[in-house]
Amino acid sequence: MGRWPEYVQIKEVGPRDGLQNEKQWVATKDKVNWINMLSESGVSEIEYSSFVHPKWVPALSDAHDVGKRIKRKPGVRYSALIPNRKGLELALEAGIDGASVFMSASETHNKKNINKSIAETYPVLGEVIREAKQAGKHVTGYVSTVFDCPYEGKIEPADVMRVCEKLLNDGVDDISLGDTIGTAVPSQVEALLDPMLRLLPKEKIIMHYHDTRGMAIANIMTSMECGIHRFDSSIGGLGGCPYAPGAAGNVATNDVLYLLHGLGIKTGIDDKKLQEAAIFIQNKLGKILPSKSLAYAVAQE
Ligand code: HMG
Ligand code: MG
Repeated sequence: MGRWPEYVQIKEVGPRDGLQNEKQWVATKDKVNWINMLSESGVSEIEYSSFVHPKWVPALSDAHDVGKRIKRKPGVRYSALIPNRKGLELALEAGIDGASVFMSASETHNKKNINKSIAETYPVLGEVIREAKQAGKHVTGYVSTVFDCPYEGKIEPADVMRVCEKLLNDGVDDISLGDTIGTAVPSQVEALLDPMLRLLPKEKIIMHYHDTRGMAIANIMTSMECGIHRFDSSIGGLGGCPYAPGAAGNVATNDVLYLLHGLGIKTGIDDKKLQEAAIFIQNKLGKILPSKSLAYAVAQE
């Protein structure tokens, strides 16, 4: 050890990032049962849905119902994606421990994703952050397209830093840096984390990798070498951003666990229970999920 952290904290984003791009509707009761299974797996945070406009993300239009019906396990933080004040009101009613606000470092992706310029987004998120903090909630600020944008190409670390600084000044507790379209290679990760780690402590940085080109595990290794020990991942590798064409799902939680547990790093997550939850949603969606570790485990049964 030495190079690696002793413990890595995983936020399971499958019920939000995983499902948001799915054409196949998953019934509310199945979402609830699935999230309850995830709660029992030992994961410390679950992003259970998204309080965005239902027309923009129909797959999660039952966020309120899901929030009302899931069984809350003590010690697990239940968070949800929130774009504006209306979303926050609904989320507070449904029940959240954490509010995840989001915007992009790229002007064009931000516009396509939330229909506002970067400058127009700040006051909207500023209000959500303030009110969520007043309500005693943890607030995470997602910054998307931190390496590359599907519309603008390469994004400079300085552009990412500017957005992060503003969100931090407005009061977010931590920042999740999104490789939205899964283009980064480890040298880009180092180039971004170097200034980021001078801006805020490593405890407040979460890396959010999509696995479009199979680089996510390499990028997680590099992030850990830089000192990062918090990652977002999605069970089975489900997911993708509906407003980032061609982007694949998040790195699969199953694959991340295979790596971390193999390295002797603790996560608090039970592989077997997580696998059962992955098979459950795979069956509901009626398709094979991309995780290689999951496919191997299923083949052994
Ligand atoms: P808009 O159309 O500009 O909204 O959408 P508006 O403020 O002009 O309001 C228009 C109407 O929508 C109004 O209704 C509002 O009340 C209603 P009307 O008065 O016309 O009847 N409305 C809402 N209804 C329900 N819930 C709400 C809400 N807000 C307004 N929250 C908006 C702006 C942000 C709402 C829209 O663009 C939207 O919902 N976008 C979400 C897109 C999205 O979910 N993208 C995927 C998530 S981001 C992601 O995946 C990246 C991430 O994983 C990190 C990474 O990978 O990089 C986080
Ligand atoms: Mg994402």
